[in-house]
Amino acid sequence: MCGIVGYIGNEQAAPILLDGLAKLEYRGYDSSGIAVRDNNEDTVVIKAKGKLSELAEKTDNGSAVKGCCGIGHTRWATHGAPSETNAHPHVSNDRSVIAVHNGIIENHTEIREKLLRQGYVFRTQTDTEAVVNLIDYYYKKYNIGPIDAIAKTMVRVRGSYALAIMFSDYPGEIYVARKDSPLIVGITENAAYTASDVPAILNRTRQVYYIGNLEMGRLTAGNVEFYNLDGDLIEKELTTIDWDAAAAEKGGYEHFMLKEIHEQPKAVRDTLHAYLKENGKGNTVNLEKTGISEEEIRACSQLYIVACGSASHVGYTAQYIIEDMCRIPVRVEMASEFRYRRPPLVRDGLVVIISQSGETADSLAALRHAKEEGLKTLAIVNVIGSTIAREADYVMYTYAGPEIAVATTKAYSCQLIACYLLAIAFGKARGLVTEECVSEYLEELETLPDKIARILEDKERIQWFASKFANAQDAFFIGRGIDYAVCMEGSLKMKEVSYVHTEAYAAGELKHGTISLIEKGTLVIGVLTQSEIYEKTLSNMVEVKSRGGYLMGLTMSGNFNLEETADFTVFVPKTDELFAASLAVIPLQLLGYYIAVARGQDVDKPRNLAKSVTVE
Ligand code: AGP
Repeated sequence: MCGIVGYIGNEQAAPILLDGLAKLEYRGYDSSGIAVRDNNEDTVVIKAKGKLSELAEKTDNGSAVKGCCGIGHTRWATHGAPSETNAHPHVSNDRSVIAVHNGIIENHTEIREKLLRQGYVFRTQTDTEAVVNLIDYYYKKYNIGPIDAIAKTMVRVRGSYALAIMFSDYPGEIYVARKDSPLIVGITENAAYTASDVPAILNRTRQVYYIGNLEMGRLTAGNVEFYNLDGDLIEKELTTIDWDAAAAEKGGYEHFMLKEIHEQPKAVRDTLHAYLKENGKGNTVNLEKTGISEEEIRACSQLYIVACGSASHVGYTAQYIIEDMCRIPVRVEMASEFRYRRPPLVRDGLVVIISQSGETADSLAALRHAKEEGLKTLAIVNVIGSTIAREADYVMYTYAGPEIAVATTKAYSCQLIACYLLAIAFGKARGLVTEECVSEYLEELETLPDKIARILEDKERIQWFASKFANAQDAFFIGRGIDYAVCMEGSLKMKEVSYVHTEAYAAGELKHGTISLIEKGTLVIGVLTQSEIYEKTLSNMVEVKSRGGYLMGLTMSGNFNLEETADFTVFVPKTDELFAASLAVIPLQLLGYYIAVARGQDVDKPRNLAKSVTVE
């Protein structure tokens, strides 16, 4: 998704904007630009197609651009091809309004046609230019101030937007507005910042405001005022970001993805410990900080887990675990389908939204649909203060810390922990999990960080195997039950960072069609951590082998007979099979990572992808 940065203060703006945009590169983009104003001089707009380095070269890393007030943008094209013309910032016809935008304006065509009838001309193919000219139209037609012009525009447009705007009549001021797309405001004694995400300004300030939906802001050096859609001033709470700046850097690893894979022991431990309390007989699960009560848990008759991508794979894993422990039905729904499919929802059901960013448009829309249907919602989210976190009835934060790589790893693992804890809490509240069982489960969960660390110590063996398959065209992941859910994640990890075509298959499904694709040398990765179905999956692997497939087997330590079938076997430490996904996924994360590295891909910022998909 697009990146936005704005600065107003007493320092040169351009270098600050470029530095902030560089911190947002992980969001994925294809062009960039800045608009900077030096007091009462005209605003300078400089744009470049391609990487941010192109813009840095044009501006001598910003030093060639004078002025202390500016906005910057990295564009992930939605309307209009990647090009310098379509890059942001966009200006109104007479340059009196200049803006950058993240989101999608769904009725931009009708707005464009309206403005063409009013004599406006359009120079780009973007939806953003329609918004900029509409602000200008209201500003001039009603002879009103920036806040009122923006408010009228917000009433008129449909879609999602985070906007940072400059008006030629108001030097030294930046205006912001948002609906659904994330935007924050940072503040210091003599400067004000705006950004799509915290990392962009973390080295400048930790004091931030989260702009609410349909709210606006007016930034001046060292001050910010917030307004509602009626143009009334509103008070907002200042949040202190407690991340350390290093956490948002690579820390000596070649890629953020590898760093974050190695942060999993700590992230898993931190998330686990955030929800434990001592009860005299050992630990128990403490969900008080989420806001959901034991009574509400007991009254819940059905769970709907709604998410996208890797977060939905956590949901599929949780489905097996919660249904096993709590004996209540769990439905997993793809967020992008959920509100259009309009599934029948039981009123005493609980909708669980899983999202690392807390800004995924489809997941946010699903949350809102669930609330419109009258159901309670619980969000499992990593980004504190994110939109989904703020709009859900209950919030269960994961403590993975900032996850920069587009391909999620540590946040996925922390979401698994959150789901285990939910399952235990639900099972206990419903009298299906005894105090003694709770203690045993929690003791086993306490061992996971060290077991993950042990797997990571053996990463070179995975790296060696990955180098053998760096040129693979296809790879199939097969498993049953929880192993199948793990295959979904292993498949996506490899697919999204290495661009190898991969598929995850329920092992029992292979013979119903897909096995026709198996030929000599096809890589098939079998995951076998569930003892009850171990032999079944092993048989499926033998079927594959007899057709020439090259087998990697992944199982728990002790199942050494797998080596008689698999060409390459990976063992993970033993654990309760309900929690096996937390260990089995680690070698698959490493496999995807090392194949991508061997293929020379841009691991942290894979092509076409964004860290948070804030558009539908
Ligand atoms: C994961 O590696 C992908 N980047 C993607 O599938 C991601 O999980 C999905 O877009 C959901 O994002 P969220 O967790 O921030 O909602």
